Amino acid sequence: MSDRDAPIGVFDSGVGGLTVAREIFTLLPRESVLYFGDDGRFPYGPRPAEEVRVFAEQILDLLLDRGVKMVVVACNTVSALALPQLMQRSPVPILGVIEDTARYAAELTCKRKVGVLATPGTVNSGAYPRAFAAIDPAIEVMAIASQPLVNLVENGNSAHPEVRAYAAETVEPFRRFGVDVLVLGCTHYPYLTRLMTELMGAQAVIVDPAVAVSLRLAAELRERNLLSLEGEGRRSFLTSGDPTQFLNVGRQIDPDLNDVQPWRWPNE
Ligand code: DGL
Repeated sequence: MSDRDAPIGVFDSGVGGLTVAREIFTLLPRESVLYFGDDGRFPYGPRPAEEVRVFAEQILDLLLDRGVKMVVVACNTVSALALPQLMQRSPVPILGVIEDTARYAAELTCKRKVGVLATPGTVNSGAYPRAFAAIDPAIEVMAIASQPLVNLVENGNSAHPEVRAYAAETVEPFRRFGVDVLVLGCTHYPYLTRLMTELMGAQAVIVDPAVAVSLRLAAELRERNLLSLEGEGRRSFLTSGDPTQFLNVGRQIDPDLNDVQPWRWPNE
């Protein structure tokens, strides 16, 4: 198999990264994708940075063992806490989500006021404000952590009535601060895009990192002569959690989701 035909590895702490995978399937239908969801060790958001780094390195090794040509770190928390380590370790190119998302959001804000909703790990790392500062120091960034919303999505409860009330309360500070762009800085939040759009109304554009990272992926593959040139991409999914639960929740984002295989970490 030539490098061009090898799969792209995409990983996340759970089902959230399917929001990124879905965008890749749409933009790059000829690419094969191997997705890994670490649902068995979800959530990453509240974990210490060192633990997230160890988990991310284990996943990278697993994807490399299976011959991926490139890796997309769909998870914002891993991108915020472990990207330099992963890049150092990897013989294949690696993309995180934060820089490209910040660049995309910076282009969309007229008021130079951006909101970022993310996990505690991502917010405490300061990765998003740093990325915006490097692009335009005049942009004011309000970053808020909400782990409960992430957990509700992962557990398949996106449509639960408490989600709406909780989300409304969570985004209220963004409304008061006057953001005109809201970054959904965790892969699980785009399961709630419709609700977030409704809650922010005409005040803010909602940014899903999947868009920026997929465009960047396409450009990187082209530049590195790694684009798959023919045929339909194959898609396979691995989860360290329960494949049936993964399938049920994941189908909210990708109704065609199929072929989910279990993965067991040694000693678990
Ligand atoms: N999906 C991950 C992210 O994008 C984190 C969710 C979690 O494991 O807490 O940040």
